[in-house]
Amino acid sequence: MVAQIGSLEDLYAAFTGLNMEGGWHRLRPALWREPAANFLPAQWRYIEVKPILAAAGLLIGTDKAERRNLTMFNPVEGNIYPTVRTMVAAYQLVKPGEVARAHRHTANALRLILEGNGTYTVVDGARVEMRPGDVLLTPNWTWHSHDNVGAEDCYWMDFLDVPLVHLLEPMFFEPHPDGLEKQSVPSDGGTLAFRWEDTLARLEADQGNDHADAHASVQLGDPALNTIRLDMQQLDAGRPTGVCRTTANIIYAVVRGSGRTEIDGQSIDWNFGDTVCVPAWRPYSHLANEDAVLLKVSDAPVMDAFGWLRTQAG
Ligand SMILES: [Fe+2]
Repeated sequence: MVAQIGSLEDLYAAFTGLNMEGGWHRLRPALWREPAANFLPAQWRYIEVKPILAAAGLLIGTDKAERRNLTMFNPVEGNIYPTVRTMVAAYQLVKPGEVARAHRHTANALRLILEGNGTYTVVDGARVEMRPGDVLLTPNWTWHSHDNVGAEDCYWMDFLDVPLVHLLEPMFFEPHPDGLEKQSVPSDGGTLAFRWEDTLARLEADQGNDHADAHASVQLGDPALNTIRLDMQQLDAGRPTGVCRTTANIIYAVVRGSGRTEIDGQSIDWNFGDTVCVPAWRPYSHLANEDAVLLKVSDAPVMDAFGWLRTQAG
């Protein structure tokens, strides 16, 4: 039997009771003209983070070493995890003698080594040394563990697409049944490792090829991961880049040098080891005050896969 609906009040009550909403009076619009400025431009300074991580190294036991990291959550109200909509970045410390046990997950991950020698990562049985400036990939569902057999504290940055996996729901995580992979073979990392010296040589070869947001730029992988594109970018001291914006969300890590990034009217000064995030569609430009190298981590492959990658450069 159809209920009697004689007034607007009856009408709203009728569809609200069925978990439905009228398209003509949404609390928030469902469509808008261009990407909304939801996530905020933000920065994390390595010089501030490092002593906190060092203190965590003393206070948080080795049984938790694989999670002794500090994730950078975007300061937009109500957010507690993503750095930008689709990705999260974190700083991690692994001290001499420590081991991060093997596990795998559907989230894609990568590491950028900031400081410290003597640390290895094992990815699907391949044992790869990690050195400062190196970038190491751990794609979807590959086993990975880390151990520091050297004498130096190792600081690195992690970047993962976990927030995207959260949005789309296909999260699976599995600790390795043996704690660590029993067999591992020394490896140069193959397609999973990008060595600093190789990256520098490629950047040198790219001199003179100006890019919209850098003075030299090389892509690591093509793309590095199904969901994440990596570009190592050089900025020449005193030469501003143009102003760009893209639907891709970007996290920058400062591998070398210092400078300033203007993001949507906000000015952010950065130095070695800092993190700067440029959320989707925010105009940005860089100006290095000494020659600099940035690792640009973006979700461009996701946008590209669905025909949503739009970029403007001025
Ligand atoms: Fe992991």
